[in-house]
Amino acid sequence: MGHILAGAKRRVTVLGSTGSVGSNTVGLISLEPEKYEIEALTARRNVTVLAEQARRLRPQLAVIAEPSLYGELRDALAGTGVEVAAGPKAVIEAAMLPADWVMAAIVGAAGLEPTLAAARRGITVAFANKECLVCAGPIMMDLVRDHGATLLPVDSEHSAIFQVFDFERRETVERLILTASGGPFRSWTREQMATVTPAQAVAHPTWDMGAKISVDSATMMNKGLEIIEAHFLFGMPHDKIDVLVHPQSVVHSMVEYVDGSVLAQLGTPDMRTPIAYALGWPSRIRTPAQRLDLLSTGELSFLCPDPERFPALRLARQALQSGGGASTILNAANEIAVDAFLNRQIGFLDIERVVEETLMALPHDQPRTVDDVMAIDSAARRKASDMVRHGTR
Ligand SMILES: NC(=O)c1ccc[n+]([C@@H]2O[C@H](COP(=O)([O-])OP(=O)(O)OC[C@H]3O[C@@H](n4cnc5c(N)ncnc54)[C@H](OP(=O)(O)O)[C@@H]3O)[C@@H](O)[C@H]2O)c1
Repeated sequence: MGHILAGAKRRVTVLGSTGSVGSNTVGLISLEPEKYEIEALTARRNVTVLAEQARRLRPQLAVIAEPSLYGELRDALAGTGVEVAAGPKAVIEAAMLPADWVMAAIVGAAGLEPTLAAARRGITVAFANKECLVCAGPIMMDLVRDHGATLLPVDSEHSAIFQVFDFERRETVERLILTASGGPFRSWTREQMATVTPAQAVAHPTWDMGAKISVDSATMMNKGLEIIEAHFLFGMPHDKIDVLVHPQSVVHSMVEYVDGSVLAQLGTPDMRTPIAYALGWPSRIRTPAQRLDLLSTGELSFLCPDPERFPALRLARQALQSGGGASTILNAANEIAVDAFLNRQIGFLDIERVVEETLMALPHDQPRTVDDVMAIDSAARRKASDMVRHGTR
């Protein structure tokens, strides 16, 4: 199960080390560097941060996914002894190095093949990259089982559920309740949302995250992706996974049992807590995260999500229900649409339109292999990009 042995150094790789989750992971490792040996750090384009991390942590290998940046990274790490590589294949090779713990924190379906490569080694995979399970859930869960890997959820909601879920007596679990902050437009009308800018959409009220997940939180597609993620991680049918809007982001999610008990995990909204849980598991490690002080937190409130104002939740549930390649299409179309919104090519409300119309335009064939997933993903990206260029409807 990849447990950390007392006294033994944990050999770790961080995929997506320059991002929000990746940097927090590197930050936690840097607090107690003597406990870890770093195999690899990877990024897409951010040579400056990757080189700084590599100089500090001295991994065996630093990889930049963008091939044209190889020379820049090589020069930045000259004389350090850190091996340098570039390109998407090199990211997959980094995931195959002999780490016993890999953080999968690349954003989007681009993280699928590196994450699968790590899982194939039968090690512990700390799993932030939810898009992997959304686009290839059954394939990924089969691979994890067949290779004896351990998936530790990093998403705060799924980490919360993991911490209170009775895996020995799963038949006693009645329902999962995912909490959602509701994002920056929680109480906005559709008219108000029609004109929001990328800067407004990425300004999340409680969590400090990368741009893509921040926009997903604003549309609530993030919660839709999380329903799909929870379905695969915990083997729960979609109608036993509920969502409650909880603006304070203190209760990170809950599990309801057949006797009426509801177990929850609470904390301040700080990703270092769920990352540390995955890094220390099965033990716990100390973090600098602010402690929860319920006396000063004030009221904790819970509301029903509004499906009229946030249709992305419905789209994700429908994709999960309809099965086949629908979730793969949903994820790919959403990635294209969010990117187009961030580049000011489409408006905020166009994101859900691009996703819905891409879902309607393509067949939902069941992917059987990773190649099938990649083919469906590419077709959905092409269709969604057409809609971005030519407008939907
Ligand atoms: N941020 C959070 O608090 C949070 C919470 C829960 C779950 N998650 C999930 O964790 C994942 C990462 O989120 P994030 O917010 O940390 O994202 P982020 O800040 O955008 O970071 C993404 C990381 O992936 C790298 N990357 C991007 N595209 C790549 C590609 N095509 N090939 C290789 N590497 C690539 C980036 O490199 P560059 O820096 O060079 O671009 C960066 O290191 C997402 O799946 C997200 O849903 C995040």
